[in-house]
Amino acid sequence: MPALPDFAASFERDGFAVAEGWVSQAWCERLKARIDELVAGFDPATVRSVFTTHEQSRATDRYFLESGDDVRFFLEEEAVDTAGALRVERSRSVNKIGHGLHRRDAVFRRFGEEHDLLGAARSLGLERPHALQSMAILKPPGIGGEVGWHQDATFLQTEPPSVVGLWFALDDATRDNGCLWAIPGSHRGPLRQRWDRHPDDRMEFIALDDAPFATGNAIPLEVPAGTLVALHGLLPHRSDANRSERWRHAYSLHLVDDACTYADRNWLRRP
Ligand code: FE2
Repeated sequence: MPALPDFAASFERDGFAVAEGWVSQAWCERLKARIDELVAGFDPATVRSVFTTHEQSRATDRYFLESGDDVRFFLEEEAVDTAGALRVERSRSVNKIGHGLHRRDAVFRRFGEEHDLLGAARSLGLERPHALQSMAILKPPGIGGEVGWHQDATFLQTEPPSVVGLWFALDDATRDNGCLWAIPGSHRGPLRQRWDRHPDDRMEFIALDDAPFATGNAIPLEVPAGTLVALHGLLPHRSDANRSERWRHAYSLHLVDDACTYADRNWLRRP
């Protein structure tokens, strides 16, 4: 466990907090081995879903919309050709696996049971934390795509905003292999947009505030494997493509506060 008072103070001040050594090397290896197993059992022909945060078309994809309580695979944008065929070997084609690993996969569920995730979230101010979604993020060498600037509260909406991200580095994350970047203190700015699910399942970004992100103040969060990075739901963050020869695996969980109202317009229907 991190020294929680410092952890909470950094989170409050910067909108993120970093705790090295939160996850043992053994657990990092165990989660990566499980990711490898899941990918080995995945048939790419069953899915055309490609993950990117700046492409709205994924929104209409039922495979995505129904992934909240399941273990589903999302491909790298560059992994498929225009006909939908894989351009790379399967092991490097998957961008992420989500979004119900923490409930539906025995190994990831065990990880949650053995680590005090809810306690960490409570220390960051959530009154009744609820782990809503989880993702194994693979970021394969050479092909792992970038994730553009965004606030997680765009994608998981409560009133008031309460989402917190717990992001675990399973490999060393560096600028070369696509580590997180964040803008310290910028969680005090407004939520810029919402991603709404309409009753007909059409998805739409709704602009709320056009204040630009102060990206000139961004810093890289280069962290060793086993580090927990907690991210405030209003904190703008991003990650680069992985153009290195090294993997950059991560596991990420998003928690909301059940003391807040969960919006009906969320893409994720609560299981
Ligand atoms: Fe995010």
